[in-house]
Amino acid sequence: MTAARMKLDIDTTRDKLAALGCPHAAEALEPLLAEAVRDEIAPHLFLDRLLRVEVAGREERRIRTMLKLSKIPTGQTLENFDFAFQPAIERSRIETLATGSWIRNGEVVLLQGPPGVGKSHILVGLGVRAIQQGFSVQYFRFDELLTALKTDAHLKPQTLKSRKYMSTALLLVDEMGYDPMTREEASLFFRLVSYRYGRGAMIITTNKSIRDWTELLAGDEVLATAILDRLLHRAHVLNVKGRSYRLRDLEDALKLKT
Ligand SMILES: Nc1ncnc2c1ncn2[C@@H]1O[C@H](COP(=O)(O)OP(=O)(O)OP(=O)(O)O)[C@@H](O)[C@H]1O
Ligand SMILES: [Mg+2]
Repeated sequence: MTAARMKLDIDTTRDKLAALGCPHAAEALEPLLAEAVRDEIAPHLFLDRLLRVEVAGREERRIRTMLKLSKIPTGQTLENFDFAFQPAIERSRIETLATGSWIRNGEVVLLQGPPGVGKSHILVGLGVRAIQQGFSVQYFRFDELLTALKTDAHLKPQTLKSRKYMSTALLLVDEMGYDPMTREEASLFFRLVSYRYGRGAMIITTNKSIRDWTELLAGDEVLATAILDRLLHRAHVLNVKGRSYRLRDLEDALKLKT
């Protein structure tokens, strides 16, 4: 076969792959064919490599789309978390959580501690991992979640169930506790927690310790107890007592001066 003829054949095959919705395989066809001819690769191995490129390309696109839809902030991953800086966060514990089995069981991870210790970073990192594993994930800052709950307060239970904060496999709730809730907000939050209880997993970050939750929940001790009871049943509580990563440079500079 002449080189020109082979080129023509590749072009038509590439067009067919594209028409079938396999853009990654279409793009990789020519180099993979050249490689197969050069290294005398068996046809089934060539086909397998070509399909693998398509599968990997689709998976990458799925993850990119899901990350965008989840509203997860970008840039923070478990890979770029410095575990040596924050000994209060055990690497092995985070790696166990990163396997995702707790998400399947609808469990809760509660990360509590002072500002800058890496709570949001871990929440985001675990969220990214969950998306890579194929779970549906949705990120809310706590104030945004309350706004959404209030907007939807009048919805019928059937409609409410389809809202992302209810239906997603993993709900990420970042920065709870900066402002105390009103009674209405506290009771809407209770509705969310009791609907998700046993159904869907959650990660919550907060700067408040559990004993401050009554005050946080409009001073309603009964409601606070009911919420905590559901959240803490089969929860993974991580107390992050440590240095602020934001202030580390400042601390180091001050140390040098003294
Ligand atoms: N151990 C760490 N390794 C790498 N980066 C870190 C680490 N801890 C925190 N950071 C970075 O420092 C910044 C502050 O961390 P983060 O937002 O996670 O803190 P936080 O505990 O959520 O604080 P806050 O209570 O104020 O929300 C972020 O940019 C985060 O990526
Ligand atoms: Mg935070």
